[in-house]
Amino acid sequence: MSYAKMVSCMIMCILILISTMPLETSANAKLKVGFYKSTCRSAESIVRKAVNKAVSRNPGIAAGLIRMHFHDCFVRGCDASVLLETILGNPPSERDHPANNPSLRGFEVIDEAKAQIEAVCPNTVSCADILTFAARDSTSKVGGINYAVPAGRRDGRVSLSDEIGENLPSPTFNAEQIAASFARKGMSVDEMVTLSGAHSIGVSHCFSFSNRLYAFNATHPQDPSMDRRFANFLKTKCPPPPPTDGLGSTRDPTVALEFVTPNRLDNKYYLELKNRRGLLTSDQTLMDSRLTSKMVLDNAMNGAMWGTKFAKAMVHMGSLDVLTGSQGEIRKRCSFVN
Ligand code: HEM
Ligand SMILES: *[C@@H]1O[C@H](CO)[C@@H](O)[C@H](O)[C@H]1NC(C)=O
Repeated sequence: MSYAKMVSCMIMCILILISTMPLETSANAKLKVGFYKSTCRSAESIVRKAVNKAVSRNPGIAAGLIRMHFHDCFVRGCDASVLLETILGNPPSERDHPANNPSLRGFEVIDEAKAQIEAVCPNTVSCADILTFAARDSTSKVGGINYAVPAGRRDGRVSLSDEIGENLPSPTFNAEQIAASFARKGMSVDEMVTLSGAHSIGVSHCFSFSNRLYAFNATHPQDPSMDRRFANFLKTKCPPPPPTDGLGSTRDPTVALEFVTPNRLDNKYYLELKNRRGLLTSDQTLMDSRLTSKMVLDNAMNGAMWGTKFAKAMVHMGSLDVLTGSQGEIRKRCSFVN
């Protein structure tokens, strides 16, 4: 190969490398607080009012919206892919994966905010930003944790149920496995433990944890890491036989993820882990693993510190693999691509 050919090949390789590198850092730089100040001044207040109204009626909606934001950001980045409905004749979308359908809630709040925003500033505010604002406003409403969130996300055009499995952690994971799942998104172990505090609100279906009550392993039908009185109480809420027909079956009861203050986003979750009353394996493992137990105890002890870390970690999670600039689109309706 001639020298000139070698050099041009090297340049090509470098160009290919650069063009396939994740756009995260450059995209992040473009998100900014107050992004819609001049283009849609009322955008954030419209979302806040819609969230406040819905959450006042049903505090569970705050849990739904915070979880929805997590499920959006961990699968294809915060691009509102979780909101897209399956189109007949196409592969199922994220929204129809058993991790989301039918347990994910709050879609109607996003749709209402979007409709009101389209009426005053059409084609301007992305569904990805609306969902990010809604998660922030939910955090404020049920947790008193306030933060500014950078905006400027664009909406994706792809959503595949098949991408959920490899991206969302499972409730049966141990601390090391959850940490690995967060590390793949560039998030730290401490951020993982901090964000797990979202399980201070909302509910879980029995399906997500009843193996811990009835079918833990060959020698222990009941998970020995769970307080026995708590397990006996849960058995009354989730009577045998344990559900087998998948997460979110309509016949599957729900129980609070945290029983002390189930509608208040606070650090009681960590205190409950200390008392062996974490609901999911993925919760209790944070107390039982050497990797994370000290973080759990610190968060249990210092609620203000946890709240500050929670806000920061939410902003970080909200910046994962975002589309910006001319990437993607601004959807007209959040459940469908344009
Ligand atoms: C760390 C790994 C995580 C795992 C394994 C996990 C798993 C789960 C599971 C299985 C449920 C119950 C679903 C059901 O049975 O209906 C749930 C609920 C919930 N999750 Fe997570 N989650 C994790 C992290 C997070 C994060 C990072 C957030 C947000 C920051 C979050 C927010 C929520 C909320 C608020 C609920 C209650 C939803 C409702 O009441 O509608 N989770 N999670
Ligand atoms: C069942 O779980 C317990 C507690 O985690 C453990 O000590 C035991 O070795 C497990 N048994 C089997 C057969 O996996």
